[in-house]
Amino acid sequence: MISLDALETPALVVDLDRMERNLSRAAAYAATHGLGLRPHVKTHKSPRVGAQQMALGAVGLTCATPYEAHVMSEVCNDILVAYPPVGVARAARLAALPAGVRLTVALDSPRAIDDMARAADTAGRRVGVYVELDLGMHRVGLPVVDDAIAVAKQARAARSLEFAGIAFYPGHVREAPELQDDKLRALSDSLADAIARFKRAGVDVSVVSGGSTPTLWRTHEIEGVTEFRPGTYVYNDRTTAVIGACDWDDCAATVLATVISTAVPGQAVIDAGTKALGREPVRGTDGEGLGQLLEHPDVVVARTSEEHGVLDLSRSSWTPQVGERVRVIPNHVCIVVHLNDVVYGVRGSVVETSWEVVARGRGERVMA
Ligand SMILES: Cc1ncc(COP(=O)(O)O)c(C=O)c1O
Repeated sequence: MISLDALETPALVVDLDRMERNLSRAAAYAATHGLGLRPHVKTHKSPRVGAQQMALGAVGLTCATPYEAHVMSEVCNDILVAYPPVGVARAARLAALPAGVRLTVALDSPRAIDDMARAADTAGRRVGVYVELDLGMHRVGLPVVDDAIAVAKQARAARSLEFAGIAFYPGHVREAPELQDDKLRALSDSLADAIARFKRAGVDVSVVSGGSTPTLWRTHEIEGVTEFRPGTYVYNDRTTAVIGACDWDDCAATVLATVISTAVPGQAVIDAGTKALGREPVRGTDGEGLGQLLEHPDVVVARTSEEHGVLDLSRSSWTPQVGERVRVIPNHVCIVVHLNDVVYGVRGSVVETSWEVVARGRGERVMA
């Protein structure tokens, strides 16, 4: 039996009770509302967690990168790559997924259709296509529905592709769930309009794929949505808690760190810096700092260098000692996971298991 105290720091630690509760709760919500849960694996990048999501009834998994898709194909035979397959190498790598995997890609351009169609033809496989709409985030996705219909028809005309539905990502909805009414109504209206226009153009939309962690528990109110893709919900993070989309007790992932210096008066320094915590602000609101201590919520990581995190003690009565251990709730857990090779799964203070963040990085790429 290994105790938390025995781990070398910094280390990414996941509270298994919290993670299991987060997974089960979302699966139960999906079942209650008859929605397909297709979790985004970008948060955990681990086949072990993907397998747990599938075992709890997920309809498939969502990936961003070709490497994630390959890694997840070991545990899932229905993969959505919610990222435009632009570029010969990217499209070819997707088309090379094991033949038994049903592959769908989300895209928003004729060029992406061409690249995916060519790669699918060469590989001799069929690929489903979701056409991405921009419903307010203004990142990817077509803002004009007629343009989306044209891309859907192009997919239908390609021998190796099939139009499988529409996708959107409500990444612009980052307020507390109870303040989301207007934006959720706007999403429902936009989707109703889009689905009606597709229908009038002779293109039936059977799947509407959307969803995020901030909107997770209100997905059923976005009319038209048939499947949702939360990612962060598996671990949650400080951003999710600060905006009120989860409770602090739902934050499952922390960075275990050690106080390595108190030499400069008024501060303490831990061994988790930018290379352990990332440098992400709290997104969508004004939280200060680069992470918050689990045990001392009034203490934030005020600044970092690569391997040092400087704690702001000004609001706390805590007097840290060199050698003391703390756990930092990261602002954006997906970035922190990507910085780690291994996750330690703990119950209380016992390290019960560990697993590899297999899909971090880009995977092997062969050079000519
Ligand atoms: C296309 C897409 N779908 C789903 C998600 C998951 O959203 P969240 O991290 O809020 O759970 C993301 C997150 O970046 C995304 O980019």
